[in-house]
Amino acid sequence: MYKVRRICCIGAGYVGGPTMSVIAKNCPELEINVVDINKNRIDLWNSKDIKKLPVFEPGLAEIIKKVRGKNLTFSTEVELAIRDADMIFISVNTPIKKSGIGAGEASDLRWVESCARQISKTSIGHTIVVEKSTLPVKTAQTIKDILCSSNDYSEAEKSFSVLSNPEFLSEGNAINDLENPDRVLIGGDDIDAMNCLQNIYINWVPKDKIIMTNLWSSELSKLCANAFLAQRISSINSISAICEVTGANVNEVADAIGKDSRIGTKFLKSGPGFGGSCFKKDILNLVYLAKYYGLYEVADFWKNVVEINSWQQKRIYGEIVKRLYGNLADKKLAILGFAFKENTNDTRESPAIDICKNLLNEGAYLSIHDEKVNESSIRKELEAVISKEREYSIDINKWEYQIDIYEAIKNSDAAIFITEWELYKNLDWARISRIVKKPFWIFDTRSILDYCSIKKVGLNIWQLGHGGDI
Ligand code: NAD
Ligand code: UGA
Repeated sequence: MYKVRRICCIGAGYVGGPTMSVIAKNCPELEINVVDINKNRIDLWNSKDIKKLPVFEPGLAEIIKKVRGKNLTFSTEVELAIRDADMIFISVNTPIKKSGIGAGEASDLRWVESCARQISKTSIGHTIVVEKSTLPVKTAQTIKDILCSSNDYSEAEKSFSVLSNPEFLSEGNAINDLENPDRVLIGGDDIDAMNCLQNIYINWVPKDKIIMTNLWSSELSKLCANAFLAQRISSINSISAICEVTGANVNEVADAIGKDSRIGTKFLKSGPGFGGSCFKKDILNLVYLAKYYGLYEVADFWKNVVEINSWQQKRIYGEIVKRLYGNLADKKLAILGFAFKENTNDTRESPAIDICKNLLNEGAYLSIHDEKVNESSIRKELEAVISKEREYSIDINKWEYQIDIYEAIKNSDAAIFITEWELYKNLDWARISRIVKKPFWIFDTRSILDYCSIKKVGLNIWQLGHGGDI
């Protein structure tokens, strides 16, 4: 059987970095080279100061300390790594197309295509190419076509097997997800290549958790898994609005329905809408696929999951403006949390972005705190979203970054809790009540704060999905 000794992973992002670290840890006999065209990112992965890794994930730094420089390296030498590799993971970004056919829905595959062309040109002998990125169904065929074209101009005969091996890790829990996955999915049509990949995972994943399918089932399953997860969030978020008008409590409803083992307890936490780089793009990809095959009712069904999500963010912003007497001009608002979820420094598609943009547009001054997101990431997100909204009149300088939560809240008119960071759950509400303007409002968009402790010190609180005050 073909022997895999050297692995190359193209793309040192939130998937490439953690995934290859866990493979390196569990397979000391493999040499793994993670490469990226982004030199700054690679420098951070190689940084001596382990706190500077470009991705924050609980447990990642400890693994990096053990394997970096031993059987895991990070570099910008993409061609060299491709040439040396027996197996290549493509783990590059696959955002939504911004223009042209399929704009706003289809995946922009330019980075994947460029990897395939580079592999086609540079690789030597037989190479197993693994799709790790999330891709539209049938992309494996595109990759095969490009790879095989190399034999038209290359002197040395090359051969390739293409596998689909989607990643199911969730940020903030990536190391645990990678070490103890619910399943590993391997799609392919070359059983030898599939076994080679299985032999890597088998070092730490029980064999009965490794699923082998055809290529298209594997590519489609990844899109479906994200669509089903996101659909649950939109479902519970739609119910949060019903709770608020009827006097029910969304946490109680989620608990009651989740106890039904057919429904299950996970992914029933109502919040400001799902963020992150993948849910929206992967559902829209599914929508595009359905439309492409003329399945318009299917497309509409999934599109609504995304629409409810945007509606939830707008709805929350509306609740804030309503309670602050319809006027935010010159009011200071504290924004607690900018990451799209806890335990990550990732801000991509964070609900905080849209909420902050709308509050700035109302004339508010924002004081933003986050435990792991730095000032420059927040600035980049706000500048990007504001530059898109030409009809808005937003002063981009009307916000500050605060590393101290109490400084962020001091002299403010309201505090808006957007990310569910653990430290927000146990604040000193009596102290807060002494340093804020009155009347003061707390907006708990994750429904995580203790209502009674806040009421006890005389502050107003609005909690998502709680109809208690009607
Ligand atoms: P990312 O943007 O963090 O990282 C992608 C990296 O690829 C970037 O650093 C970029 O510079 C690099 N890159 C692009 N083209 C390249 C090329 N030709 N050569 C070398 N490097 C190149 O993206 P990510 O979050 O790691 O996601 C990667 C893929 O995995 C996406 O398809 C995504 O949908 C999927 N995915 C992401 C997650 C997640 O939690 N972020 C989970 C599962 C699957
Ligand atoms: C998600 C999936 O969970 C992963 O399996 C998948 O691999 C990944 O997308 C991907 O393909 O990128 P991730 O986006 O990292 O992972 O994080 P999630 O925990 O799924 O949270 C996504 C968003 O939904 C967050 O904004 C989170 O706050 C929100 N969420 C999650 C809720 O509002 N309620 C919940 O009950 C769960």
